[in-house]
Amino acid sequence: MHFLHKPLPYFIFGVLFEYFTTLSSPVTCRCKNISSRYGHCVTSQDGVRELVCFVPLGLSMIAWECVWTPRKHTVYQTHRYTLIIEQKNSCKMYANISGTSQTISLSKKLNMTAHVFDESDPKSCTKSFFRGSPKKLVRCGPPSNVHFNRHSRQLDIQASWRKEENKYIALYSVRYKNLTSESWKEPPVQSKDNNRCTLGNLNSSLSYAVQIQCVANYKCTQCPWSKSFTVPPELNDKPVIEMVEDFPQTKGSRLVIIKWKFAASELVEGYSVTVGKASGEDPIETFNTSRSLLRLALSHSAYHLTITALNRAGTSPTAQRTIPPLDDKVLYGKLNVTFNGNTSFTVSWVDDLIKTYSCFSVEWWRRGEKAAYKSFYEDENNYEVIQLNEPLEQYKRYTFTLHTRPDKEPCNLKFINNSESTYGSVQAFFTEGSPISAPGNISTNVSQSSVVLKWTAVPEEDNRGFLLGYVLHYTDRLQDGTDAETNITVDAASTSYELVDLKNSTVYRVQLSAFTSAGMGVRSSAAYFETKPASLTVSSVIAGAIVGVTLLLLVVYLGSQLLKRAKKLLWPSIPNPGNSNAIQKIDGVCDLELLELINRQKEEEGDSNSLHVVDGREEMSPVSNLHSNADSCLHFNTDYEESQGPSLSTIATDSRAQDPTSDTITSIPTDIRQTDPVLISTVAHQCQPLAFLSDYTTMELFQQAMPQCVPDTTSSSLSSLEPQGQSSQSEDTY
Ligand SMILES: *[C@@H]1O[C@H](CO)[C@@H](O)[C@H](O)[C@H]1NC(C)=O
Ligand SMILES: *[C@@H]1O[C@H](CO)[C@@H](O)[C@H](O)[C@H]1NC(C)=O
Ligand SMILES: *[C@@H]1O[C@H](CO)[C@@H](O)[C@H](O)[C@H]1NC(C)=O
Ligand SMILES: *[C@@H]1O[C@H](CO)[C@@H](O)[C@H](O)[C@H]1NC(C)=O
Ligand SMILES: *[C@@H]1O[C@H](CO)[C@@H](O)[C@H](O)[C@H]1NC(C)=O
Ligand SMILES: *[C@@H]1O[C@H](CO)[C@@H](O)[C@H](O)[C@H]1NC(C)=O
Ligand SMILES: *[C@@H]1O[C@H](CO)[C@@H](O)[C@H](O)[C@H]1NC(C)=O
Ligand SMILES: *[C@@H]1O[C@H](CO)[C@@H](O)[C@H](O)[C@H]1NC(C)=O
Ligand SMILES: *[C@@H]1O[C@H](CO)[C@@H](O)[C@H](O)[C@H]1NC(C)=O
Ligand SMILES: *[C@@H]1O[C@H](CO)[C@@H](O)[C@H](O)[C@H]1NC(C)=O
Ligand SMILES: *[C@@H]1O[C@H](CO)[C@@H](O)[C@H](O)[C@H]1NC(C)=O
Ligand SMILES: *[C@@H]1O[C@H](CO)[C@@H](O)[C@H](O)[C@H]1NC(C)=O
Repeated sequence: MHFLHKPLPYFIFGVLFEYFTTLSSPVTCRCKNISSRYGHCVTSQDGVRELVCFVPLGLSMIAWECVWTPRKHTVYQTHRYTLIIEQKNSCKMYANISGTSQTISLSKKLNMTAHVFDESDPKSCTKSFFRGSPKKLVRCGPPSNVHFNRHSRQLDIQASWRKEENKYIALYSVRYKNLTSESWKEPPVQSKDNNRCTLGNLNSSLSYAVQIQCVANYKCTQCPWSKSFTVPPELNDKPVIEMVEDFPQTKGSRLVIIKWKFAASELVEGYSVTVGKASGEDPIETFNTSRSLLRLALSHSAYHLTITALNRAGTSPTAQRTIPPLDDKVLYGKLNVTFNGNTSFTVSWVDDLIKTYSCFSVEWWRRGEKAAYKSFYEDENNYEVIQLNEPLEQYKRYTFTLHTRPDKEPCNLKFINNSESTYGSVQAFFTEGSPISAPGNISTNVSQSSVVLKWTAVPEEDNRGFLLGYVLHYTDRLQDGTDAETNITVDAASTSYELVDLKNSTVYRVQLSAFTSAGMGVRSSAAYFETKPASLTVSSVIAGAIVGVTLLLLVVYLGSQLLKRAKKLLWPSIPNPGNSNAIQKIDGVCDLELLELINRQKEEEGDSNSLHVVDGREEMSPVSNLHSNADSCLHFNTDYEESQGPSLSTIATDSRAQDPTSDTITSIPTDIRQTDPVLISTVAHQCQPLAFLSDYTTMELFQQAMPQCVPDTTSSSLSSLEPQGQSSQSEDTY
């Protein structure tokens, strides 16, 4: 719309008619002269055309305007148009117009006729013509503001109109075409209301040209098409956040550099990045940038970040990211928090901050949860009492952080960038509790007089307080109950400990618990281990050898005597040596001693679990003992497995892996050792054949029974009696 002064026209027939100061002054003319003066001018598709006159709605019927379309092929650099308005017998001429529009004055009551002539090409004058009743020349539109948003092959259009027009325009229509197309898609699409319209079924990778016009009605008699809006292709991709990196600065500030990329970056006209505090505290600041990089000076708080790519067609899907709180232990300030009941706390600081700042913000949160915040004004004390809306929970670790703000009251943030720094941070429990779970996965690495214990820490949330350390309870007096335990305190940073000065060949039970200032937490299930036996001394080896040699000689002598006699006298008449008193005696001895040996054997194997149960054998008969042992061994194992899980296998595997050629002091065949799962029961079977196998001679029996069943308490003498085949197994490695 043109309200500008046009160059003054030529004064041909000179009455100056000052009608309206902002209008060009027309020259009255005689209407009869028009046809003679411009008789040679023609209407042409290529020449000046589409003359139309109107008054915009709401402009009180005074700001009339005529517009036209210029000739297609510009011959001369400057067009000069002549516009003549006829009303009844009056005639006004606007000459030497350089543009394609002209404001005019009109009488509302009379029909009008308008002519425009283009004489810029002396050889061919073109003209255009318009006629109308001024009352019906009210024009609405084009829209004052249009907003486009493309998504999922649609184009949402939001058009708004000048205030005067708004109440008269009920609907509008939209025509569109792709940029390569010559013609508009038919028919135009009508809007849902005077604001919103949706075009569907578009090709999201094409640009479109769009025009808008209102739908004419009694008030808006003219609804011209708006200019053509070019709508670029849809932004289908999400920006990809490539980097969010912290660069800690001095005084509790950090520089955060955010970098992202966008697949179809050539379609993007800019990015909109919003940043707000994760606590929800206002404001959320929007940064518009054409680069895919943003540098922000932030405090150590957590922030939420969104990035959207923009073009005139709208916005891309939004990428989101949380900038985590900077967990910087070396903040320059020291903070104290004390609780006044569960709905209030006092935060105090060491430095005289109020000299520099009067605006603060305190944030507090439980790990992984949204922070709560309170900003406050403080210029008198170096502390502040904070009242809470929600009570603090006990046994939960809270982090409290104090931020300082450079701006004065109100202490709310005005901007995100560069307007807050973090003074200090402290962790606290409103109430501490004792740990509700125990250290896990206890593993042992056993030697003769010491053990290295390792364990995994209690999960942080189960500590329910600040972990002060671990207590290691251990005992070798398994029958005595807990009183005989030794307790050792291990500091919180360790997850291993070496117990020293242990007795050799002894089973120990160990349990671990974590503790806080509220006390000791639950104990782990018991783990058992057995220390290695003592190594052989030189003297015992010699003593054993002497005894062994003596016995061997005795056996050889007696054996030869017995054989001679037996062949002559006893052989036929001995029905079953197994029933003889002597053998039964040996048998009994065998059972008991075997058991002892088996126990030892198992001790060597590190299968300590079975051992404890065997401990209770004194009152039992040998055979039932064996069975009950087998049962309870099984039972025990199951129990253990259930309660402890991995620990059992850890211990068993550990001691075996560590000592593959475990020092054997008994003659139990190798295969017994390898029958691992229920060692005792296997042994029980093994022992019976020992007693009843040999049906032929007492001597054979004796020879078989002897090495294995000789009652003896020293391992050294036993080993010296071993048959050759098994000695390699039995060699002491010490
Ligand atoms: C038309 O206007 C231009 C510039 O304003 C001027 O130079 C020219 O002389 C005028 N022509 C006539 C015919 O008045
Ligand atoms: C109008 O017509 C009269 C008589 O025909 C003539 O004298 C006069 O010059 C013409 N004026 C114009 C502007 O052509
Ligand atoms: C204006 O023109 C219309 C037809 O275009 C006619 O009906 C009407 O009577 C005319 N008004 C006057 C005042 O001449
Ligand atoms: C543009 O629109 C025209 C007419 O609707 C169609 O023939 C043409 O294929 C379209 N161009 C593209 C690139 O889709
Ligand atoms: C959209 O236009 C692109 C480019 O002209 C074309 O390759 C693609 O096939 C079109 N997609 C549809 C669904 O028409
Ligand atoms: C960023 O762009 C959006 C949309 O173009 C605009 O509304 C907002 O005011 C702009 N913000 C700034 C800070 O320039
Ligand atoms: C934020 O502030 C820092 C420090 O003043 C400045 O370097 C950076 O350009 C700012 N970032 C934006 C997006 O304004
Ligand atoms: C907070 O303290 C009050 C009084 O000491 C108590 O009644 C209430 O149960 C507590 N609330 C919580 C959630 O612990
Ligand atoms: C914070 O607490 C510690 C230990 O309780 C104390 O030594 C220190 O003085 C306190 N500082 C303030 C500012 O209250
Ligand atoms: C114990 O160890 C196993 C396997 O190494 C592991 O899966 C389990 O999570 C550990 N338990 C604890 C409490 O660390
Ligand atoms: C070890 O701790 C247990 C349980 O806390 C306790 O009953 C026992 O008396 C303590 N033993 C010693 C020697 O402190
Ligand atoms: C092994 O233990 C036994 C009995 O407990 C003890 O007499 C012996 O001295 C210990 N040997 C070593 C080397 O500690």
